[in-house]
Amino acid sequence: MSNPKAGYPDVRTRVRATPEGKLLFVRFTLAQRVEHLVLIVSFTMLAVTGLVQKFSTLELSVFAIRLMGGIETVRQIHHFFALVIIGLSVYHVAHIVHLTMVHKQQVQMWPNRQDLRDAVQMVRFNLGRASSRPRFGRYSFEEKMEYWALIWGTVIMIITGLILWFPIGATEALPGEVIPVARSVHGWEALLAVLAILTWHLYHTVIKTLNKSIFTGVMTEEEMQHEHPLEYQAMMAELQESIVPSPAMTLAPAATLEPELVVVEPDGNGRQRKRNQRQAKAGARPSSRKRNTRQSKATVSAQPGEPDMTIDHQMETAAQEEATDVAS
Ligand code: HEM
Ligand code: HEM
Repeated sequence: MSNPKAGYPDVRTRVRATPEGKLLFVRFTLAQRVEHLVLIVSFTMLAVTGLVQKFSTLELSVFAIRLMGGIETVRQIHHFFALVIIGLSVYHVAHIVHLTMVHKQQVQMWPNRQDLRDAVQMVRFNLGRASSRPRFGRYSFEEKMEYWALIWGTVIMIITGLILWFPIGATEALPGEVIPVARSVHGWEALLAVLAILTWHLYHTVIKTLNKSIFTGVMTEEEMQHEHPLEYQAMMAELQESIVPSPAMTLAPAATLEPELVVVEPDGNGRQRKRNQRQAKAGARPSSRKRNTRQSKATVSAQPGEPDMTIDHQMETAAQEEATDVAS
């Protein structure tokens, strides 16, 4: 059960209904959440055990080093978590290769032209020169920037860290100057990364809007509409398509649907037109931009005599597959 367009699992496994009838959108799989948790722990430990060495003359560092059991222990802790972050990086790359090669999923973190347009619009909006914020899909340009900053930052930290860890081996292949250079780059990049996480990342995920999805795995409908409106619309459209599976079933009459129908804006590729044609064939009124509504409880009615089928019911019947995604 996958979306052939992106190699994604069926949308019904990526949208869940609460007992109260609210929709929850799966944003991160369990594996992605555990990955982020391991990243938080290893990055924090590396930052603490590294920075106390870089600023070892500060009173706070002397205190922290003593608290952790002395400088040798501090170095061992640093080396241990260095191995953890190397392992995590290898896993991350292998996982993406697997998802793209085996499951043919699209990598959603690749930057594209739309990101550039969004960035320009965001700057213009912040300067009061654009009337609206850009509307984002799966990942905003800010999230992509953050992700790629982490990627190149980690690559630099691993290379320079290995040089510091194995100086003799490194100077067999490279000139001796590489050691002080690696030390300087490793130390200042560490400071940059810590400041970036504390300001940029935590500002976006905690202060600007409290985003708990990396821990809970899901976003509410309101959060999706606000943070990722394009992805929200695409998922709702897919969901609506997927609940018209048999000729016996049609969408409820327009009059019934009007207040609840999720209408999707055209995506610019003619997909909306095709969808309207398909819906028209199935007897439903085609959706239009005018009838767009923020409410989104889609309902499917069966032919007379058959029980009504709602998304909730569909979701219950959909296999409890883990939705896979490229964190990436
Ligand atoms: C991204 C996370 C990392 C941070 C924030 C970090 C931070 C630091 C800092 C601030 C220092 C002190 C540099 C100085 O004295 O000027 C340091 C030293 C060091 N780091 Fe890292 N580091 C990280 C990752 C790594 C990795 C991945 C490795 C190994 C592959 C590594 C190996 C080392 C080594 C060998 C030293 C020299 C001191 C020692 O032997 O412990 N670090 N680190
Ligand atoms: C307590 C600390 C942290 C919190 C509360 C936090 C929170 C979050 C949240 C909510 C997201 C999901 C954003 C989304 O919806 O796409 C996220 C994503 C991410 N986090 Fe963290 N994070 C923390 C620490 C870190 C650390 C230490 C790193 C790396 C060193 C990191 C790297 C990332 C990356 C690369 C992403 C994916 C890109 C993005 O969506 O922004 N996070 N984090």
